[in-house]
Amino acid sequence: MNMHAPAPKHTADATTAEESLAIQEAQSKLDDQSATDVAMQNTLLTPRFYTTDFDEMDAINVEPVRADWDELIAEMVSDPNKGHFRKNEDWDHVDWDNMEPGLRKEFIDFLISSCTAEFSGCVLYKEMKRRGANPDITQLFQLMARDEARHAGFINDALREAGVAVNLGFLTKAKKYTYFRPQFIYYATYLSEKIGYARYITIFRHLEAHPEQRFHPIFKWFQEWCNDEFRHGEAFALLMKTDPKLTRGVNVLWIKFFLTAVFSTMYVRDHQRPAFHEALGVDTDWYGQEVFRKTSEISKQVFPITLDIDNPRWMSGLKRLQKANADLAACQGDTGPGALLRKTSARMRAAAAFAGLYFIPARKHDVPSTTRLEPAY
Ligand SMILES: [Fe+2]
Ligand SMILES: [Fe+2]
Repeated sequence: MNMHAPAPKHTADATTAEESLAIQEAQSKLDDQSATDVAMQNTLLTPRFYTTDFDEMDAINVEPVRADWDELIAEMVSDPNKGHFRKNEDWDHVDWDNMEPGLRKEFIDFLISSCTAEFSGCVLYKEMKRRGANPDITQLFQLMARDEARHAGFINDALREAGVAVNLGFLTKAKKYTYFRPQFIYYATYLSEKIGYARYITIFRHLEAHPEQRFHPIFKWFQEWCNDEFRHGEAFALLMKTDPKLTRGVNVLWIKFFLTAVFSTMYVRDHQRPAFHEALGVDTDWYGQEVFRKTSEISKQVFPITLDIDNPRWMSGLKRLQKANADLAACQGDTGPGALLRKTSARMRAAAAFAGLYFIPARKHDVPSTTRLEPAY
């Protein structure tokens, strides 16, 4: 009798990112080139891959937040979602062949872009763990990479049923990496984890109330899923808390920049998927504002400002930005002087709309001395 437990065959059971990626690498022989091509696109709106100054991040000392840190790490080590991200009896049959073609296209696009975003987190976290020597930092990044690899693997399971999947091993090698200094990684990653939580929980709660609109089973997994993202965001909040300079003085302008960029990117990207939101029964403007409200409320744990999303200039600015982006996309393949003029005009309108959003006066807040929050939505 073999006393050794068999190696896990599914990413849901993998306990490290490496194990998870090896499983996905083995599956990737079947994977579709066109999905990988979509995931390879580098535009302002598609998820990017990041690299940073790993030595600087390795030098972080978490002693100022030790008690909260140890509690958060213990929760992640206990691995509440081990085994969760796999298809089980709750996974209803998906009739991909009879899905309305417009919806099918947008939903696949949504899955590919989500998978790429999950995987982008995995790659960054895994690299930090590999390069670092600080036991606190490497442990955290190993745990987060583990979670993101599972998330990406699960989305790929869903895509595979539609006959497409993203070849993650290929993406790691071939996709372009954008350098962000650690300070910007904190702001951008903190926000993307927290907005990820807010997006997933808002859809989950909406479908809890309207189960007839759940057109795909993956949404049933969103609650536990978003708790992972919430914990990842907590970790970045604690990292920022170790250095008060990060959230003071001129850096507040950077925080405002990242808040504006992350929110407006989400708005524009979501408006590219009207059929998807209609199938869910979600008004895209309502959804955006709901997600911004939750993310703003959460981010008060560490950021001294939030954007004034109730200012009338906010929604009108988002609409102008979205229109400029749509105009730009519409003439993207065109050539000649007329097209050049239209592209330039669209780019200038997009820049002006973004600047208009950025310069709406922010709301100021007192930041609590401890950051820890529990998911409350
Ligand atoms: Fe994730
Ligand atoms: Fe995450």
